[in-house]
Amino acid sequence: MSVIIYNSEVVGVKIIVCNDYNEISKTAADIVAGILKSKPKAVLGLATGSTPVGMYNELAEKNQNKEIDFKDVVTFNLDEYYPISSDNPQSYRYFMNKHLFNKININMENTHILNGMCKDTDIECYNFEKMIEKQGGIDLQILGIGQNGHIGFNEPDVTLNSRTHLTDLTENTIEANSRFFENVSEVPRQALTMGIATILSAKKIILLASGRNKCKAVKELMNSKISTDNPASMLKVHPDVTLICDKEAYSNNRIGVDIGGTEIKFGVLDDSDKLIYKTDIPTNTDSEDELINSIVKKCKEIIDCYYISGIGVGTPGIIKNGLVTAANIPFSNTDLGGKLEELLNLPVKTSNDANCAALAESKCGSGKNVNSMVMISLGTGIGGGLIIDNKIYEGCGKAGEIGHFVIDYDGKKCSCGTKGCWEQYASVSALLKNAEFAAKNNPDSYLAQLYMKKNKLNGIQFFDALKNNCSIAKEVFEDYLGYLSTGIESLINIFDPEMIVLAGGITNAGDDLLMPLIDRISAEIPIEISALKGDAGIVGAALLI
Ligand code: F6R
Repeated sequence: MSVIIYNSEVVGVKIIVCNDYNEISKTAADIVAGILKSKPKAVLGLATGSTPVGMYNELAEKNQNKEIDFKDVVTFNLDEYYPISSDNPQSYRYFMNKHLFNKININMENTHILNGMCKDTDIECYNFEKMIEKQGGIDLQILGIGQNGHIGFNEPDVTLNSRTHLTDLTENTIEANSRFFENVSEVPRQALTMGIATILSAKKIILLASGRNKCKAVKELMNSKISTDNPASMLKVHPDVTLICDKEAYSNNRIGVDIGGTEIKFGVLDDSDKLIYKTDIPTNTDSEDELINSIVKKCKEIIDCYYISGIGVGTPGIIKNGLVTAANIPFSNTDLGGKLEELLNLPVKTSNDANCAALAESKCGSGKNVNSMVMISLGTGIGGGLIIDNKIYEGCGKAGEIGHFVIDYDGKKCSCGTKGCWEQYASVSALLKNAEFAAKNNPDSYLAQLYMKKNKLNGIQFFDALKNNCSIAKEVFEDYLGYLSTGIESLINIFDPEMIVLAGGITNAGDDLLMPLIDRISAEIPIEISALKGDAGIVGAALLI
């Protein structure tokens, strides 16, 4: 059973992300060297495993170049297999002699490694703790991290307040360490290890992690609650921990899911917020379960290919207290985030899809240089996203429903039950409905010729009619611009944002839409077209994480 110690922000973990393993080794060696220079009698806590080998080489070189001196340095190693003799090439004593002690001017008597052949492990562990205490404690503890989050041989499910002790190794660790032995059966099943409390007593800790196979452990260290299920997470209570890792171990890939009425888009954002993968599936609207299962299935496929730290989901509808209710999607008070989190075992955050798109534009699109913006998505209706101080403003759950502010109290009936909502006049559907009406009433117009082809009009045809100087199209457009600009002016009056960003298929018309609209707006405010276009929803959803 896991014990959650507390659930708070990371207290002291500083992260240094290096380009590669060499850089990790140099960075860590520089930190050790700095400590030895300021305290020649420093007490170091050392680790074995493949990760610190590069750092040990760097330290040996610095010692040979006389940059640092180990003459008075005292060391304590984290752990040792039990039972194992010190001349066994797999023992950690053998390892340390080979990779560091034999290459530097350390006094071997100052190097302390738990005795893998001791008769009484309790006495051995007690004496080890006493020796650390006698030296005034460890100044710098170097750690590696196991794929399951172990540090030293502190495996998941240890008690927090443990000092140096004998422990059983987990199958996971036996398997991971078997690479150093002839075969897995030769790996000792027990070990002596400093406890978590011993490690946390060090004045400073550096944790090294390299490569993709450490990504999950690093992510869990950063994201998980402090729990004995993840021994490394306990480092978060220490005030001076530096995680030195490479880009592969630190990868911060997140999945963004954008649920639409007809398709669900999925994207993967890397640690520099670049979209590195996208795909989509048709929206299964048969039932809530089927819809959620289809999202889970696709996410699992993606998780198999990328190390994913979390999932953000943009959904139509209103989210109140985490529960989603949407009109065209089978969500009714659905705990979408909770269900996905349970099924995918990763952190999941949800927000309204228009909010996600706005967040994406504000962080990586047209609005990236401003702190506040209103994003207006023109489509069947009008969606909106409000960004204030670079954050989505959700109000009590449904802020940003700008398509439903009323511009004519006794006006056209809206699907929301109210009359005169802005989207009844300024959405693309409203524009095309008026254009079709005008075409029918003016059969000789160019607009009517286009309309007659399929008995309906689309946005491309409408802008084509404008380009061909069709006076009927121009009249419809003037009327549309009147409503669109009035709504935008009102939004400017309410929010006074630094920028308005327009999105939706109609923005493909570019300056043909933008220029006449800007002419009608008296406020001096930049009005831009979405830079991320159709990707804004997935990018913004991933940015929720
Ligand atoms: C080593 C130790 C272990 C390793 C960990 C990572 O003394 O206690 O916790 O730090 O297993 O090992 P590598 O670096 O080989 O991936």
